[in-house]
Order: sequence, then structure tokens, then C-alpha cells
Amino acid sequence: MTNASHRSIVVLISGTGSNLKAIYHYLKQHQLSATISAVISNRPDAMGLTWAKENGIKTIALDHTLYDSRLEFDKDLIEEIDKQQPDLVVLAGYMRILSSEFVQHYHGKLLNVHPSLLPNYRGLNTHKRVLESGETYHGTSVHFVSEDLDGGPVIAQAKLVVERHDTEQTLMERIQKLEHKLFPLVISLFIGGRITQHHSNVLLDNKPLKTPLLFDELSIPSTLV
Ligand code: GRF
Repeated sequence: MTNASHRSIVVLISGTGSNLKAIYHYLKQHQLSATISAVISNRPDAMGLTWAKENGIKTIALDHTLYDSRLEFDKDLIEEIDKQQPDLVVLAGYMRILSSEFVQHYHGKLLNVHPSLLPNYRGLNTHKRVLESGETYHGTSVHFVSEDLDGGPVIAQAKLVVERHDTEQTLMERIQKLEHKLFPLVISLFIGGRITQHHSNVLLDNKPLKTPLLFDELSIPSTLV
């Protein structure tokens, strides 16, 4: 990194990249001293890659189906990511399980967004499972990544009330609206040095965060004072 205060962010995606777009626009709008230095996808046909290219962001496709093992793939992925000298690696709809080697390599600078109120509903199909269980609340969580799937320390959450007419599709849309505000907010706190990971704890302004920051549909701020 040539300029110590300018942050390099690498974003990993597997699909649409709507969170990627939200992060990109947030950085621009708030004139933050950070750049998305590359978008990397394990799926060469990911729509988010096309969008990134069109917006002048460096893109890299690393097709996981061409690899024999997760570890070999993750080693090449690390090599590509490290070329960007990232201060932060963001998983924005990156749909692959990470090797321990990968997680350890980026300890303290690896963030994920997961569509549930963690620790509830780790894993896939969260909207379907939430509907089937008749939950009153659903939401999304931004967390540091640990070797435990969707189990790392949670930084912030946004929740909503599940309405009677909600379907998997409407829940996905409503949750993504929350993510598009929550994820950039957390990223801005991270690149501003306000959020750090200390073992399995989150520190906000150097103090342990006892419970994740919690917002609802109307209360997600664009910055945190
Ligand atoms: C998001 O809803 C996120 O919670 C999950 O995958 C989805 C990605 O969507 N991990 P997009 O590719 O950012 O549109």
C-alpha cells in the first residue's frame, strides 16, 4: 500500500452482487478513503462481475470447478487477493465454504453478511426456514468470519417483522434492503479503525461490544457518530 491511510478492499462474490453495488456506491457517496481494488468470483458467469467490469473495477474469475481440492483453490484465491494488498476482505454473497487456512490468513479483516439473526439460522435457505418455523422476527447479520460456519463474532444486525403475506421472495427482497444499508455502514466503521476483532470479541472504539449493534428497518443510520 503506497498511501497508509487509503484502504484497499477486495470483495468476493458468487452471484448478483447487489451488496457489492451498495458498498461501491456508499464508498463514493461518503468519499471514504477506500477503494474496491478487485472483485473476485468463484463463478465466471456471476452477474456482479459484469457490473464491476462496467464500472471500471478490476475483476478476477477463479473457477472453483477446475480445482481438485478446496485447499488448492483457496491457495490460488489467497494469491490473487494478496496481490491487492487488502486491508479488508469482504464476502458479499460468496457461496463457498472457506478452508481454515483461508480464514486464518485473513483473521481480523474478513467480513461476511449472512441473512439471518445469528446465531439463529446458520447455513442455507434461511428465509424458507424462518417462514416454516413461524418466526416473528427475521434479519441479517454482519460478522467477522471464523472457522465455524456463520459462527464468527457478530458486529451488527438489522431486523424486521415477518408479515403474514411474506414469502421467501419478499423476505429476500426485504432482507437485502437492510443489508444494503447495514453492510456498508459496518465496512465504514472497519476502515475507519473503529471496529476491530480481538480473539472472539468485537471491539468498538477499543471497547468490547457486549451485544451486536441492532437496528430495524427504519433505524439503520448512514454513519455512526
Ligand atoms: C445476500 O443476501 C447475503 O446475505 C447472502 O447472499 C446474498 C447475496 O446477494 N450471503 P448479492 O449477490 O449481494 O445480491
